[in-house]
Amino acid sequence: MTTTLSPNVTRRVPSLSAVPNRVAALVNLQTFGCQMNEYDSELVRTILHGSGCSFTEDEAAADVILFNTCAIRETAHNRIYARLDALKEEKKERRDLVVGVLGCMSQNLKEGLLLRFPAVDLICGPDAYRQLPDLIARSRGLRERGTAIELSEYETYEDIAPTRVEGVNAWIAIMRGCDNFCTFCVVPYTRGRERSRDPRGIVEETCRLADQGYKQVTLLGQNANSYRCDGTDFADLMRQVAAVPGIARVRFTSPHPKDFPAKLLGAIASEDHLCKHIHLPLQAGSDRVLKKMNRDYTQDEFLRLVDQIRATIPNVALSTDIICGFPTESDDEFAETEKVMRGVEFDSAFMFKYSQRVGTIAAKLWDDDVPDLVKSQRVTHLVDLQRQISLRHHLTMVGGTVTVLIEGESRKSSAEWRARTDGNTIVVFADSSRTIGDICDVRIMEASANTLRGIPLT
Ligand code: SAH
Ligand code: SF4
Ligand code: F3S
Repeated sequence: MTTTLSPNVTRRVPSLSAVPNRVAALVNLQTFGCQMNEYDSELVRTILHGSGCSFTEDEAAADVILFNTCAIRETAHNRIYARLDALKEEKKERRDLVVGVLGCMSQNLKEGLLLRFPAVDLICGPDAYRQLPDLIARSRGLRERGTAIELSEYETYEDIAPTRVEGVNAWIAIMRGCDNFCTFCVVPYTRGRERSRDPRGIVEETCRLADQGYKQVTLLGQNANSYRCDGTDFADLMRQVAAVPGIARVRFTSPHPKDFPAKLLGAIASEDHLCKHIHLPLQAGSDRVLKKMNRDYTQDEFLRLVDQIRATIPNVALSTDIICGFPTESDDEFAETEKVMRGVEFDSAFMFKYSQRVGTIAAKLWDDDVPDLVKSQRVTHLVDLQRQISLRHHLTMVGGTVTVLIEGESRKSSAEWRARTDGNTIVVFADSSRTIGDICDVRIMEASANTLRGIPLT
């Protein structure tokens, strides 16, 4: 076992077979954060299955409780802190219980987590999951508190098939890590350097998924569109994945605006199976704030990219992320963000209050000086604005026909389906002759800011 105090980069990638430990434990694994964490939990399931573990949804029955955590905002940390405090009491009764923290929060806070939370027996970062059986075995057998938080330049878990939950969509990690170092963001520190998987492995995985009946794959990466492996770039990879028979839809997340060459836009426009939806995180509208964020584009460049995308891919849906209250962001600068949102009219948008993160460039250089109340007001203002824009867009779709993929039952009624358009809008409709995974046409009859309602066309 290796213990590190700093996020050292290691070249050693132990293979799964190099981890001989049998750990016949009943594990409760809980996942927080983004889709990459969901995917990593699927890898962790495979790794732990391989060493004799089984899984339970019931925390009270488990020998081992693992939290796969997120560090992106303080709210994500707070949820886990509350759970770890509660488990301190619980462990007085359940002396053999092992509690582990996986994922970005363990990588971010490192041994500080062990010092602060006596309930935690082990921490394991996103590049160290092959060491998890060993960590659990030592904790159960020797009552040793273990740490595995090395970041790797090479680890892609290429040889480990994720244990997927049934559904119509399968996630495929195509690259890991991020080299962009946006000054607000913790991801480059929790996920390490960018590395891409071999395209042949990705296409083979897609073929297996198609054989298993998946209709949609979503290519995942912290910076998915900077994918590059030998001669294959992201546009090439998208075309190869889209060509796999049986896969009707290919999506990707999350991209960065800096990596949208004409070749990629051309591929999305011309390949039927590539969804006409692009997530284009703006973060802020003011050039001064964008520069301070190290986002690598100006407002004008962003707007020109939007024009180019819309000219190349007619009817493309665009979504975005916005941070409100970055250090020193003034009211006038915030108004620039609002101006861009009014001008572009994104189909949907996620708004966040700036949250200062340990170890980031922004935390080192600038005070978190925008009052919390102002951040909240800015977020609320943009959420209201986006609701109006989304509603307006959706109303224009009433009377028209959309093609949807049925994902499951609607949240409100098991008599209705929840389906999704290629552009990522949710459509609710009733049709007892259809089932999950079907693709069909629906005439839109009603619209709200979040959802469309319709009737099926035969
Ligand atoms: N790799 C993706 C996004 C990763 S995090 C990208 O570059 O777009 C998802 C979103 O969380 C970011 O787009 C950003 O809007 C938000 N975010 C990241 N760090 C944050 C912070 N410190 N405070 C508030 N929001 C943050
Ligand atoms: Fe974070 Fe920026 Fe990387 Fe996205 S591109 S993960 S916001 S550093
Ligand atoms: Fe959170 Fe890590 Fe994802 S910080 S958003 S779980 S990459």
